[in-house]
Amino acid sequence: MNILSKIKNTLIIVLSITLFSCETNVEEDSGIVDEESCDTTISFAASIKPIIDSNCISCHGGSQFPDLRTYDGISNNADRVRTQVVNRTMPQGGSLSNEEIELIRCWIESGALNN
Ligand code: HEC
Repeated sequence: MNILSKIKNTLIIVLSITLFSCETNVEEDSGIVDEESCDTTISFAASIKPIIDSNCISCHGGSQFPDLRTYDGISNNADRVRTQVVNRTMPQGGSLSNEEIELIRCWIESGALNN
């Protein structure tokens, strides 16, 4: 096989993978929360930490996994937190506003930065 056909084959494979992943992204989500584009400037310190402090650490303050007292505790469990919050499974015995849920979802989907 010459170099050109190797490049061509590689391109075809890459293109197929790209097309395939676009296809799967189009699938409908559960539809509980709107999948709008996220504000990527949400601040952990100003917006996220206060929501977690008032709604989560009464239980997740050390003994109950995950420990959500610190940035590390939250960011290390970001996917779990996202799932539980978007599902409204957490906070157990309480609730968050749609705006609070969106803030947490978008902050995590923007990389869960310590900002
Ligand atoms: C009243 C107590 C209570 C509060 C408040 C609470 N949780 Fe929980 N959480 C639990 C318990 C108990 C579990 C263990 C799993 C279960 O029993 O559902 C849990 C489990 C979890 C888990 C782990 C789920 C998994 O993947 O195994 C996450 C993540 C979580 N909570 C996030 C949160 C967040 C985020 C908040 C605040 C918005 C919150 N919780 C508020 C009691 C609480």
